[in-house]
Amino acid sequence: MSIVSYENLKKIMFKLEPENAHAVAGLSLQFIGSCPPLFNYMTKRNYIESDMLKQKIFGVEFANPIGLGAGFDKNAQYVKAMPALGFGYTEVGTVTPKPQPGNEKPRLFRLIEDKSLQNAMGFNNKGSYYMVQKLKKLKFFCYPIGINIGKNKTTPESEALKDYETLFRAFKEYGAYMVINISSPNTPGLRDLQNESFINEVFKIGKSITNKPILLKIAPDMSTTQAIELCKIAVEAGADGIIATNTTIDYSLTPHAKDFGGISGELLKEKSFEIFDAIAKELYGKTLLISVGGISDAKEAYRRIKAGASLLQIYSALIYKGPSLIRDINSELIKLLKADGFKHISEAIGANR
Ligand SMILES: Cc1cc2nc3c(=O)[nH]c(=O)nc-3n(C[C@H](O)[C@H](O)[C@H](O)COP(=O)(O)O)c2cc1C
Repeated sequence: MSIVSYENLKKIMFKLEPENAHAVAGLSLQFIGSCPPLFNYMTKRNYIESDMLKQKIFGVEFANPIGLGAGFDKNAQYVKAMPALGFGYTEVGTVTPKPQPGNEKPRLFRLIEDKSLQNAMGFNNKGSYYMVQKLKKLKFFCYPIGINIGKNKTTPESEALKDYETLFRAFKEYGAYMVINISSPNTPGLRDLQNESFINEVFKIGKSITNKPILLKIAPDMSTTQAIELCKIAVEAGADGIIATNTTIDYSLTPHAKDFGGISGELLKEKSFEIFDAIAKELYGKTLLISVGGISDAKEAYRRIKAGASLLQIYSALIYKGPSLIRDINSELIKLLKADGFKHISEAIGANR
């Protein structure tokens, strides 16, 4: 039994504007992170520690494969609470070199009938200096953190490379991996950087600055052929992994959609899987694959794992299903692995390839 059921809490939270609800959740997470008795209680409940799910990736131990997707913790303010929610790792950001306010509000919407979200946040964040200070404080917190980086809105496309260079330098000593985000639909022109020459250059610069693994996060709004091509280019340019996918701008998925921003959650599920599966067909075994987009239960998580995902991420389903979700998925995953005769998650990763 939980202290308060999430279904009841959700009734209150969903009465708030989505961004206000996010702020309340953020404050609660900061409290959890700074209150050892509560942190320990929740971590014991939610953080599944099983040898079947543990993996060493990039030289770092991931207790389970489910991570928090980028965009929830844009400034690395909630990292300490993440084990209490059950997450095996967390991806912070997207962080830009300079602080920026993001797009005009309202810019975050619940598509309740569709169990989805739509956002046009536009990388609202406190900038790289602020995040570095936060990460410094986490130096002795042994927990895998991915750092998702993006360019400032006011930086012209022709100078985008410089922004990424600044960010590689700022974060070169922090986290388990970095992610180049050129797939958000909410920064004008950003997705245009999903091209061969930019990808080649950005990895060349990144690799010359840091030894940390660098991954590419891609959008779902392209053909599978295009996605495969881009990911192959990235891997040849030195990418250590691919994260697929970001949110979609396919507003035909629902009559409830706004005509701006990116859709995540249930509506994104099949599109995200299709792109992931196509990429995995080509790149499974050649690079690390992370699947994100519409994952909300163990069945879907397992499908992505068998398709080739070593790690997964979740954002929207956390809002709809609450903090017991990650524990439920992980414990169910263990059952699914056992039912298929697998002794360790690594035996299931790519089993369908
Ligand atoms: C409100 C919101 C903000 C997001 N911000 C970012 C971001 O800053 N950077 C990023 O790479 N992805 C961002 N995303 C995308 C998520 O990381 C994820 O790729 C996407 O939501 C699909 O996963 P989901 O269906 O589990 O939500 C954001 C998503 C949401 C809902």
